[in-house]
Amino acid sequence: MSRITILDTTLRDGEQSPGVSLNLHEKLQIAHQLARLGVDVIEAGFPIASPGDFNAVKAVADEVRNVGIQALARTLEKDVDRAAEALKGAERPRIHVFLATSEIHRQHKLKKAKEEILSLATRAVRHAKGFTDEVEFSPEDASRTEPEFLREVVEAVIDAGATVINIPDTVGYATPEEFGRLIEDLIKETKGMEKATLSVHCHNDLGLAVANSLASIEAGATQVECTLNGIGERAGNAALEEVVMALNTRKDFYNYTTGIVTQEIMTTSRLVSSLTGLRVQKNKAIVGENAFAHSSGVHQDGIIKERTTYEIMRPEDVGRGKTRLPLGKLSGRNAFVQRLKELGYGHLSKDELEEAFKEFKDLADRKKAIQDEDVEAIVINILEESPPVYRLESVRIDCGPGTTPVAEVRLRMQDNSIEENATIGDGPIDALFKSIDLITDIPGKLLDYQVRAITSGKDAMGEVSVEVDFDGQVRRGRVVSCDIIEASARAYLNAVNKIAQKSARQAPPKKKKTRQREKV
Ligand code: KIV
Ligand code: ZN
Repeated sequence: MSRITILDTTLRDGEQSPGVSLNLHEKLQIAHQLARLGVDVIEAGFPIASPGDFNAVKAVADEVRNVGIQALARTLEKDVDRAAEALKGAERPRIHVFLATSEIHRQHKLKKAKEEILSLATRAVRHAKGFTDEVEFSPEDASRTEPEFLREVVEAVIDAGATVINIPDTVGYATPEEFGRLIEDLIKETKGMEKATLSVHCHNDLGLAVANSLASIEAGATQVECTLNGIGERAGNAALEEVVMALNTRKDFYNYTTGIVTQEIMTTSRLVSSLTGLRVQKNKAIVGENAFAHSSGVHQDGIIKERTTYEIMRPEDVGRGKTRLPLGKLSGRNAFVQRLKELGYGHLSKDELEEAFKEFKDLADRKKAIQDEDVEAIVINILEESPPVYRLESVRIDCGPGTTPVAEVRLRMQDNSIEENATIGDGPIDALFKSIDLITDIPGKLLDYQVRAITSGKDAMGEVSVEVDFDGQVRRGRVVSCDIIEASARAYLNAVNKIAQKSARQAPPKKKKTRQREKV
């Protein structure tokens, strides 16, 4: 049985999901877990994009072993140099050069003729080849490129040294039959194609990313690019878990294997969802809460009599259904560390681990049974960007029937304590966020605000997630706490800090500002 190479691009294309921004610590946890999941290559990021991206790719390349590490670059020399620099410590480095080839992109975006595209692509591949043996080239928007020109570009970059040709359906436009045919024709008609691996990279705008990936495999592609939970630009990328489990469950049809340890799928999916803040829809195939739930009486009866009547996969094969005992006050460090490993957080730094254990002990004093969700919440809070520009020192809310909601917030910015007194709002959260806006001078438009209890019981931890638009830049924030007002303030600050950190647009500290109550 032949083997399909799985390239995971959760940390690059997945991170391009609107509002998602992972810091270095979060990316490292995910990268380590991807290696444990058994992916063949991790696309770790786009080093030229920002110093943060560069550092994250470098950290992944330096630390994560037994897996190829890929970094993205445009066809500019400086992009390739930066990618090569970030990849220096990788065991198996690979530079991924991309350039759009379709007429639409050539005319409107690049304003370049075919000859220029050919020359830019080949020059960049040759340059990349000076740094890494493995070079991947992607003709962006390949599925809308004239087939003859696509072939010409592919032949030229293989000749220049590309070892992987990745055919992206960038805008999710292709249909399975058509995309399969494109792959088949490329394999048949491209000179030198046998010297390179043929890869596909499908987007999900029409909900066809997985179907297109599978059709390409049938047509001869041997690498698939995908992301956990299918996250990515717009409607996302092909979901790794769906591609892998389709190949696995229907071996009889596809006759291909992968190196994926399927029992690690659920842990990885949860880790990615927790750290990106992108919740998995309940009915999502393989990893959704309901994917193995049977509610109709007829189905339940069938399952009891014979599982295969309504189940085509065993939940345990994708790592579901593990029941773990809750931790508690008497649980020691070893039990806590073991649980972290099981949840995919096996690579925290010494300091992070210390802080997490302390938080765990504090929580165990207040809460009898500590569930996995509580442990995850502790780690998520700790992995937050450090040090944040603004920290919450205190918050007081006045609200209730017949009262105008008023918030009093005190933040700390470096050594300054900044206070905004008595900001009124339409409701307590409105007052709270307005107060923070006034202190930070980074006004945000709240796009989404959600509160949910992450475990059951009145003592459950509450999770607050926000999505905020800061003058066109959307950022998410998420915090779990026993106090949902505090969690709301910190989640909002989380999003603010991402902007403050990124653009260094820090408001000059306003010393101990005190405003009189406008209306109480
Ligand atoms: O979708 C796309 O075309 C991409 C390329 C960079 C491969 O993500
Ligand atoms: Zn993409």
